Amino acid sequence: DQTRQIAQTLAEFRLSKAQLLEVKKRMRTEIENGLGKKTHDSATVKMLPTYVRSTPDGTENGDFLALDLGGTNFRVLLVKIRSGKRRTVEMHNKIYAIPIEVMQGTGEELFDHIVYCISDFLDYMGMKSARLPLGFTFSFPCHQKSLDAGILVNWTKGFKCTDCEGEDVVELLREGIKRKEEFDLDVVAVVNDTVGTMMTCAYEEPTCEVGLIAGTGSNACYMEEMRNIETVEGNEGRMCVNMEWGAFGDNGCLDDIRTQYDRAVDENSLNEGKQRYEKMCSGMYLGEIVRNILIDLTKRGFLFRGKISETLKTRGIFETKFLSQIESDRLALLQVRAILQQLGLDSTCDDSIIVKEVCSTVSRRAAQICGAGMAGVVDKIRENRALDHLDVTVGVDGTLYKLHPHFSRIFHQTVKELAPKCNVNFLLSEDGSGKGAALITAVGCRQREQEA
Ligand code: BG6
Ligand code: GLC
Repeated sequence: DQTRQIAQTLAEFRLSKAQLLEVKKRMRTEIENGLGKKTHDSATVKMLPTYVRSTPDGTENGDFLALDLGGTNFRVLLVKIRSGKRRTVEMHNKIYAIPIEVMQGTGEELFDHIVYCISDFLDYMGMKSARLPLGFTFSFPCHQKSLDAGILVNWTKGFKCTDCEGEDVVELLREGIKRKEEFDLDVVAVVNDTVGTMMTCAYEEPTCEVGLIAGTGSNACYMEEMRNIETVEGNEGRMCVNMEWGAFGDNGCLDDIRTQYDRAVDENSLNEGKQRYEKMCSGMYLGEIVRNILIDLTKRGFLFRGKISETLKTRGIFETKFLSQIESDRLALLQVRAILQQLGLDSTCDDSIIVKEVCSTVSRRAAQICGAGMAGVVDKIRENRALDHLDVTVGVDGTLYKLHPHFSRIFHQTVKELAPKCNVNFLLSEDGSGKGAALITAVGCRQREQEA
């Protein structure tokens, strides 16, 4: 009977093919809403124009600084791109911590910290006096009217600094640089991480026209036809659109598949009611869904001898890396118990079987709904080009995709099943999004010279 009740609880997370096709269809509807002139303002999936009009062509050249803010790590990078017959990209980077007080402090503190890190990096590279062009990977939703301006719509994931929403983050960075009075930089481009990832991958593989992040957050971008982007003047060619698909469902359109545990995670988050799809499928939240299920099963007496420990009450204990370890097939149950022990959870052998089952159920649903969203995207591209069959490459990054033992496989399989007319190739980004941001900056610099 206990087994049956646990199975019943988890059954809500098991989606049928029909349900997944429905998720794909709804994603398509939201895409159209985000692109449409009349529907854009109230759309949840915002489909933000990026002013990136093409993927790299190999003529990009020069030395650039790049910032990469918003994923697990904050990085400052120097990227040296050489065009010509023997194209090369040389990268140097340093990782800096962003303390939680800074992530949730004032905007001024955040940008002072960023500028402090740039200053440290320039010292480290011995190039304080160089006035380099800079590409800013800023992995949050921004309204762009040009390559070098981005108004932050709202913070997502673990950030919540004051006085930034509604402001141009490029200006905030420039002001931070001025306050420091140490060096001068030319901020040329603000880039979402999905876009940086797509460009990084497209430099190696020209068929790459989609970017995906399955990491702390979840999001995608792709090359859309200008004629379909009704929020930007002009009908010629294509432009990369930052979908901000994490907000899918914020109008309630996924409520039929959300569970009480999804709602609990949402209620305990920094941005209640927002990023509902992201909260079902990205690394920052999967562990929280698991934790909420475990609490419930414990309350019902099925786990941990019915005793809810302080640890289990602690937010954020199940990081992506722990879920990945627990679900690893190479681990014996004894080792699962050892991991739980490390987290401060005393488990029996039966407990560990249940915990592993909960984890795999939650991550499977995540991979599937993420796949359903991607199926919607590639089919849209195929229809844009009036093709019966589309070959396309998706550039991918993110710790969930990279570390989890099953996420990528289930995700690939779902895309294949739900978009049978597309042959989708997935390319893992090895170099992060900073390289892509530098490539975009190179194009931005060239455009400026041409205009001058
Ligand atoms: C990195 C990219 O490799 O992956 C970042 O350089 C991106 O721009 C990040 O934000 C996403 O993954 P995660 O798991 O760190 O959020
Ligand atoms: C969040 C951000 C989005 C970013 C994604 C992945 O969804 O809003 O801009 O691309 O996380 O990092």
